[in-house]
Amino acid sequence: MIHERPRRMVPALIAAVLCTAAALTTAAAPSASAAQAAPAAPAQHSARHQIQPASQSYNGAALTPPMGWNDWYQYRCGITENDVLANARALVSSGLAKLGYRYVNLDDCWMAPQRAADGQLQADPTRFPHGIAWLAAKLHAMGLKLGVYESFGTTTCQRRPGSYGHYQQDANTFAKWKIDFLKFDYCGVPPGTTSASLQADYQQMSRDLLATGRHIVFSEELPVAAGDANPANPHYLPYVALSSKISNMWRMAPDEKPNFRSTVFGHLADDLPLAQYAHPGAWNDLDMLMAGSSTFHWSVQQQQTQMSIWAEMASPLLDSSDLTSMTTATKRILGNRAVIAVDQDPLGRQGQLVAKQGSVDVVAKPLADGDVAVLLANTGSAPQQVSTNARAIGLRRAGAYAVRDLWAGTRRETAGTIAETVPAGGAMLLRVSPLRAFAVGRYAPFTAVSVTVPPVYPGSQFTIAKPGQAVTVPAALQNDGRVPVWNARLSLTVPSGWSSGSPVSARILPTGKEVSGTWHVTVPPGTAAGTYTLTATAKYRWGYRHAGGNSTPATVQIAVPPVGTPTLDQLSWLSAVNGYGPIGINKNYYGGPLSIHGTVYPHGLWVNSVATLYYYVGGNCSTFTTDLGLDDSDKSTGAVVYQFYADGHQVYDSGVVTNSTPTVHAIVNISGARILELHVGEGNGTINYGNADFGSPRLTCTG
Ligand code: GLA
Repeated sequence: MIHERPRRMVPALIAAVLCTAAALTTAAAPSASAAQAAPAAPAQHSARHQIQPASQSYNGAALTPPMGWNDWYQYRCGITENDVLANARALVSSGLAKLGYRYVNLDDCWMAPQRAADGQLQADPTRFPHGIAWLAAKLHAMGLKLGVYESFGTTTCQRRPGSYGHYQQDANTFAKWKIDFLKFDYCGVPPGTTSASLQADYQQMSRDLLATGRHIVFSEELPVAAGDANPANPHYLPYVALSSKISNMWRMAPDEKPNFRSTVFGHLADDLPLAQYAHPGAWNDLDMLMAGSSTFHWSVQQQQTQMSIWAEMASPLLDSSDLTSMTTATKRILGNRAVIAVDQDPLGRQGQLVAKQGSVDVVAKPLADGDVAVLLANTGSAPQQVSTNARAIGLRRAGAYAVRDLWAGTRRETAGTIAETVPAGGAMLLRVSPLRAFAVGRYAPFTAVSVTVPPVYPGSQFTIAKPGQAVTVPAALQNDGRVPVWNARLSLTVPSGWSSGSPVSARILPTGKEVSGTWHVTVPPGTAAGTYTLTATAKYRWGYRHAGGNSTPATVQIAVPPVGTPTLDQLSWLSAVNGYGPIGINKNYYGGPLSIHGTVYPHGLWVNSVATLYYYVGGNCSTFTTDLGLDDSDKSTGAVVYQFYADGHQVYDSGVVTNSTPTVHAIVNISGARILELHVGEGNGTINYGNADFGSPRLTCTG
């Protein structure tokens, strides 16, 4: 089953389809009230050495999050026993198996379309000609384990035979075949299912597996039955709570999609409130790792970010890629021992949010030896500086701390402050430990370089300048180390041909002290539009003879203001969000002409509320004129409101615009503004049919 978030919107044709989808979702979601299962008590946070885990596994299995491979996102229903064996061999030959990646899990479609005459499940005869027991024996001989997939209902998500009515028989079959892991999905919901019956079903399979006497990791999707990971759904948290008592891992969020941000950061946000349910033998399952996936196309930084988040949140680490063509980068990501150690820490605690700074989540995970793993996850689209400290992340008081960057491999000492610049849409994973006084001198001091390109106006998300403009850029070097740094020098590197200024310096920077400066950077006239990087670089000496340093980049976007009287279809926006589908440039949603009350506009934009567009006007334009109204193609009961902002200040409000509102002719003074923001909101509390046009949207600019 595809657990789609019901989409808001929308043009009529699609609305009909969506109604059907919504009806199905409702039918699948049980309606009776859930038996309230109390959440496990949050484990106490202590930072003494060798802390003991709080509670134990229901079946003694999966005392640390399971690691391995699952075929689904790479092979779907085409998976064959040869693919499985080839990937298993790759796990062994790459060394990943030795690092803990031992489960080789078949997802949907391993089974034949029908059960055998006696009701027993059987493998697909074409793709698994030797059967599952044979495959298990092969994998066991390689030192690996085999997982299979089933669904609690009458069918699997791909319409193969489900387990419903066969729980005990299937559990016994799996045990007989020497299966080590069962993924138990939520699909094929039998008619009459209620929340109570659903919970009873998952409990039944849990017991039936236990009764086989074989250690079978029980992985299930009961919480998915409550729709999206939404704690406001009265069934969701009770399902998670029950899962944590009857299974080893449970999917707590919808299936992954290729959109990196919504999948990885979305699942992180969904998982943060669930830390109390994770403990040894029971894990929130964030879904599969996509390192090396040729179906999702995530960058190396994105794959690394996912691995950092999964490890911090103590999620199972089941990669879903073709391991037979694994690149060095994939192997480096999956094989990072220090990151795996965070995931597999025997204390079994999931990371918890300790602060949110701008677009960065600061998450802390206490570890068994008293260290704390810190995840800094930047969900924003610009690099973000953050600062936390040893006490805030829950470490005991010490004179100094060692900070290991688990991807860069560096080790530094800090007196307490940990300040970093986290890349846009990326994450850092640090391991912080208290240091004994005598050990401090072994590590380079932790220093932070900050550099800020001011926003185009206070509070704006954009750092933009135009060719010829001077930009003021403050930067600083702070020593957070316990030992002082000497002969510190801080400089700003700018793109070639740009003028900046001289470095600043300080003879000594004791703990907590900084040297700072302000650079007046001139962007040469004629600079091409684009994004440019300015880098603040610090160099210093520490200890008796060590050289140290670090640097931090900041970006500035160079944009050329419009001239003359362009219409918006001739310009590029800085950023745009549309309520549904792509923004129409000179056409409506269906591809036809823009038209308001019969007037056709060759130039203009179609948007669907709620929509926001930003344009750079660079202080060069005096007026914005446009016609406004719902597009004739599909307006029905729609109602929108147009609001415009110049450098963040509202300069226009159309009031509610409906089908019966005559075409609005807006003339708006935007003199001096650098950013023009066009917002189309809901006019009547609903967002249906908000198909809003800008007819001949024209700027009047100088030059
Ligand atoms: C559901 C599950 C997925 C996968 C597919 C297989 O969507 O959530 O993880 O198992 O079914 O059909």
